[in-house]
Amino acid sequence: MYWSKYFIPTLKDVPIGAEAISHQLSLRAGLVHMLTSGVYSYLPLGLKVLKKIEDIIRDEMQEAGATELFLPVLHPIELWKKTGRDQVLDEVMIKFKDNRGREMCLGPTHEEIITDLVGSFVKSYRQLPVCLYQIQTKFRDELRTRFGIVRACEFIMKDAYSFDRDVEGLKKNYDRMYQAYKNVFKRCGLDVAIIAADSGAMGGDVSHEFLVPAAIGEDTIYHCPSCQYYEGAGETQVEGRDCPSCKKGKLEKQVAIELGHIFQLGTKYSAAQEAFFIDEDGQQKPMIMGCYGIGVSRVIAAIIETNNDKKGIIWPECVSPFDIEIIPIAGGDKSAEINELADRFYQELTAKGFDVLVDDRDETAGFKFNDADLIGIPKRLIVGKKNLANGEVEIKCRRTSEIKLVKIEQAMEALVS
Ligand SMILES: Nc1ncnc2c1ncn2[C@@H]1O[C@H](COP(=O)(O)OP(=O)(O)O)[C@@H](O)[C@H]1O
Ligand SMILES: [Mg+2]
Ligand SMILES: [Zn+2]
Repeated sequence: MYWSKYFIPTLKDVPIGAEAISHQLSLRAGLVHMLTSGVYSYLPLGLKVLKKIEDIIRDEMQEAGATELFLPVLHPIELWKKTGRDQVLDEVMIKFKDNRGREMCLGPTHEEIITDLVGSFVKSYRQLPVCLYQIQTKFRDELRTRFGIVRACEFIMKDAYSFDRDVEGLKKNYDRMYQAYKNVFKRCGLDVAIIAADSGAMGGDVSHEFLVPAAIGEDTIYHCPSCQYYEGAGETQVEGRDCPSCKKGKLEKQVAIELGHIFQLGTKYSAAQEAFFIDEDGQQKPMIMGCYGIGVSRVIAAIIETNNDKKGIIWPECVSPFDIEIIPIAGGDKSAEINELADRFYQELTAKGFDVLVDDRDETAGFKFNDADLIGIPKRLIVGKKNLANGEVEIKCRRTSEIKLVKIEQAMEALVS
């Protein structure tokens, strides 16, 4: 991809009102743009990161035995009345009457919709278990939108739902999802704390939250600096208490962002919506459900929040929008030669399957370097006049700032290793 033909509207200055580092950098690096408070456009670079995270999630969902589908955003309120959640979620639900006079809402989550769907098809224990997921836009009329895409009114969630005939089945699905979540966050370059949590508006007994310690966190957790043990904020004061795991450290307070939440729902929805099946013993029973959510767009913010320096974002390789950025630097009479070499590297790297961005804009070296630091592609190849005279190019690592001068013939190997 050539920068001049792409769309990366970088900003030099910190936008007014953006406090969080991730919010500032996601705007400045041209990943997202605010339409109005809590509502964001994903620009090409941001969309690329989103898709990379989605790919990781799809891969792990498949591993966990879940199948993808796509549910509607537009819901009849009737369905929400069956569980009473039109009241529970009243504050965040975006409701309206359509032109036919039907009462509708934009989905803040999808338990009622999936329960209705699965309940209408699954009638026998032989059809269970069922585990389905989608990656889709959710709408929540958040009164306090915060930190850009961290708390938005329109955001992307991966939500999965499991249906089982018994609690053992639910526990199996829950454990597979738990493991899938661990894998997803690890592959996104995130170190998560996993905390047994309050099920809140979802109902049910067991739930776990996946959180990333970060300055902008809205949740408080406690952690042991000697063994990385984590604990949620219970009713009793735990700060300063001896670590129950290693018995050496003392628990410290820490703020964290919630990225994922999994629940053992039981029969709360299936009973209310009459999602029944006939079991082997001939008895009619409500299906036993679990639900599993990841805030996909929020993951982008968490990655930036934990991977940056004064100059900009430092993408972990697995979620970076590009693998390599090539920067040709205008060199007077040598410019044609420089551009040709940059193009050649672009072709060769692309042919090898790398996703490459060439900053072919007519700008100074300093300007291009600043933008490269800002958008944070892990590896950079700089083609300039002085080094070219020695038959060399420069390779720079964004994370370590390490610079290597290599012979042109050895550059490919140095880049891909
Ligand atoms: N307003 C929001 N903006 C962005 N992501 C959100 C928002 N609300 C929830 N999420 C993400 O969706 C995941 C699952 O949602 P849920 O547990 O229902 O949210 P909450 O705990 O805020 O009620 C959360 O862990 C979070 O990552
Ligand atoms: Mg939650
Ligand atoms: Zn400890």
